[in-house]
Amino acid sequence: MACDFDSSRVTVVDHPLVQHKLSILRDRTTGTKQFRDLVRELARLECYEATRDLPLADVQIETPICPTTARCVAGRKLAVIPILRAGLGMVDGVLDLVPAARVGHVGMYRDEVTHEPHEYYAKLPGDIAERLCLVVDPMLATGGSASAALQYLRSQGATDIRFLSIVAAPEGLAAVLEADPDVHIYTCSVDEGLNDDAYIVPGLGDAGDRIFGTLDR
Ligand code: PRP
Ligand code: URA
Repeated sequence: MACDFDSSRVTVVDHPLVQHKLSILRDRTTGTKQFRDLVRELARLECYEATRDLPLADVQIETPICPTTARCVAGRKLAVIPILRAGLGMVDGVLDLVPAARVGHVGMYRDEVTHEPHEYYAKLPGDIAERLCLVVDPMLATGGSASAALQYLRSQGATDIRFLSIVAAPEGLAAVLEADPDVHIYTCSVDEGLNDDAYIVPGLGDAGDRIFGTLDR
C-alpha cells in the first residue's frame, strides 16, 4: 500500500555500514547474540546522527604543546527512553555515546489481535521537560506504540523528542508524524509496508523475541 508521510521529518540513516549491518539483522539465520550486538551498534550509529545538532561551547584547555580553545557539548541534558521490551536493546548503544544520559522507561505491548498498544509501565527522570529525549524502539509498524509513548511523554512535559527506530513502515511513519506534530524520526530503513498481522515487510520479524531469545521455533 502506498502511503505518504512528511519526509522532511524523517532521517533515513543510509550509511553503507548501517545498511550492511541491517542486512545481517534481517537475516532469519542470525542468532540472538549477534542480533543483540547489531541492535546496539545500529542504535549507536543512529544516536550519532540524532545528536548532530547538539550545541557546542568554547573551553580553554592546554594540550601538551600549547593552550588552545576547544569545543565541548554545551550542557545539553539527554534522556534515552526505551519502549519495552525491544527498545531495551538500543539503550546501551546510546549510552556508549552519551554515558551521562538518564534512562526512562515506557512499557507497551501490542495486542496480538487488534494491534492496539497497551501501556503497562512508565518511569521517567523527574526533569524530563528539560532534557532532549531520545525514544528508542527498533520497530515502528502501525505506529500505535510509538504514538502512545510520545503522547505519554508530552503529557509529562517533554518538549524536544527524537524517535530512533531501526525499521519503519510507511503507514507507521505517517501515523506517528500526524499524531505528534513536533517529533523527528530516525530510521535505518523505510520498508515496503505491513502484512495482515501488522508485521513489517520485509522487516526482521519480532524484534523483542529476537533480542531476548524468546522466539518459539
Ligand atoms: C513491538 C515493537 C514496538 C511495536 C511496534 O513490540 O518493539 O514496540 O511492536 O508495533 P506498532 O508500531 O504496530 O505499535 P511488542 O508489542 O511486540 O512488544 P515487545 O517489545 O515486548 O516484544
Ligand atoms: N513488532 C515487531 O517486533 N516486528 C514487527 O514487524 C512489527 C511489530
